[in-house]
Amino acid sequence: MEIVNARLRHQQGLYRISINKGLFSGITSQTSTIIPPATSIDAQGQLVCAPFVEPHIHLDAALTAGEPSWNQSGTLFEGIERWCQRKPDLNEMDIRQRAIETIELLVSNGVQHIRTHADTTDPSLIGLRTLCALRDELKDKIDLQIVAFPQEGLLSFPNGLILMEQAIEIGADVIGGIPHFEYTRELGEASMKKVIELAVRHNRLVDVHCDETDDPNSRFLEVLATEALFHDMGPRVTASHTTAMHSYDNAYCSKLFRLLKHSEVNFVACPTESIHLQGRFDSYPKRRGVTRVKELNSAGINVCFGEDSIFDPWYSLGNGKLLRTLDFGLHICQMMGYNDFCHALDFITDNSARTLSINQYGIAVGHPANCILLEGEDDYSVLRKQGEVLLSIRHGEVIMQRQPAKVTTPSHLKKALPI
Ligand code: FE2
Repeated sequence: MEIVNARLRHQQGLYRISINKGLFSGITSQTSTIIPPATSIDAQGQLVCAPFVEPHIHLDAALTAGEPSWNQSGTLFEGIERWCQRKPDLNEMDIRQRAIETIELLVSNGVQHIRTHADTTDPSLIGLRTLCALRDELKDKIDLQIVAFPQEGLLSFPNGLILMEQAIEIGADVIGGIPHFEYTRELGEASMKKVIELAVRHNRLVDVHCDETDDPNSRFLEVLATEALFHDMGPRVTASHTTAMHSYDNAYCSKLFRLLKHSEVNFVACPTESIHLQGRFDSYPKRRGVTRVKELNSAGINVCFGEDSIFDPWYSLGNGKLLRTLDFGLHICQMMGYNDFCHALDFITDNSARTLSINQYGIAVGHPANCILLEGEDDYSVLRKQGEVLLSIRHGEVIMQRQPAKVTTPSHLKKALPI
C-alpha cells in the first residue's frame, strides 16, 4: 500500500508514503502532484499525520447523562452524586455496549489510542473488568490503556486500597487517584504517596485526577510531582486537570514550575469539561478554571488535551472530535498566536502520545503504519477548517474511510449570483 500526494506536518511539498507488512517502509518527497496508481490512496495534497490520541476519557460512564437524573448544578460534585446513583445499575452488557459505541465514535474521528479511567470504588469492579476484556478484544482497532480510578477516594472509600490492589491484579495499566476528594488534606497527601508506591511495586504508569477544583489551597500536585521525582518516574506520571493551578498565585506557581520541570510529569487538560464544571461557585468575575496550559507548554513541560466525558453525568455534550476540544482549548487558554496555530496538533497527537508512553508513534520508517488523513494542508488550516477525518490506517490496514461532504447549490440560485 502507498499514499501519494500527501502533506506532512512541518514539511514543504508533497510526499509518497509506502507501507509494507504493517510498517512504514518509505517516505519520499515528490517533485509534483502525481496521478495515483490504481492501488494507491490519493491524499490530494491534504495532511497525513499520526493518529489522534484521547488521553483522558471515562468509558465506563460514557452515554449515561440523565440516568437516572440530570446534573442540574453543573458542578463536579453533583456529577459524582449522579454517577453514584447510576452505579448500582451497571452490568457487563450495559458497559460493553456503551464503551463500544463510544470507541466506534472515537475511531471514526481518527483516534487510535485511548486512555480510559475505570471507577474502582465499585466493589464489583465490573467497569474495570469489562474494559480490560474489551482492551484485548479490540486491539486491532484501538490501543486501550486502563486507569484504575478511585472515584470516591483511595483512602476515604471503604476498602478503597484493597479494591485498587484487586484492580491491578485484574490488569489495570495505570494507577489513578483523586487527592482533592479525600476527606482530609492528610489523606490526600497519603494517597499520593500510596499511588506512587503501588506504581513502583507493580511497574505501572500513574494518572491522577489532581486538584480538580477552584480551591487555590488544593496543592496535591506538589506532592505528586515530588514523589514522582524522588522515585525517578516523572515521565511515567500524569497529572490530569490540575484546575486549581488556574487560581494559584503567581509567586507560588513560579516555585512550583521549578519542581514540575525537574520531575518531568505530564499534564492533561480537559478544556471543555473544566470550563463547564469549574467556576461554579463564582459570581463575577468568573474563573475559566482550566490549568495553565500556555505557561506549562512555554516552560517545556509536556501538556495535552483530552475530552474527559462524552454525554455523562459531568458533561452532557461531547462527540469524540478532538479537533473540537483543541479549538476550545486554544481559545480558553488564549493560545491564539500564529506559532500556537502552527503547532496546534501537538496537543492531540505527539504530546498525548508522550503522556501515554506510546512507543514508535509517528510517521517514520520502521514505525507501525498508523496514520490519518485530515481536511487541510497543515496544523493551521486543519484547525481552522474543523473538517472531518477522512481516513484512518492502522498497522497498514484501512480501518475507517469517509468521503468529504459535497456542497451543491440549486441551479436557479447559481444563476442569481453575480458573476
Ligand atoms: Fe476525568
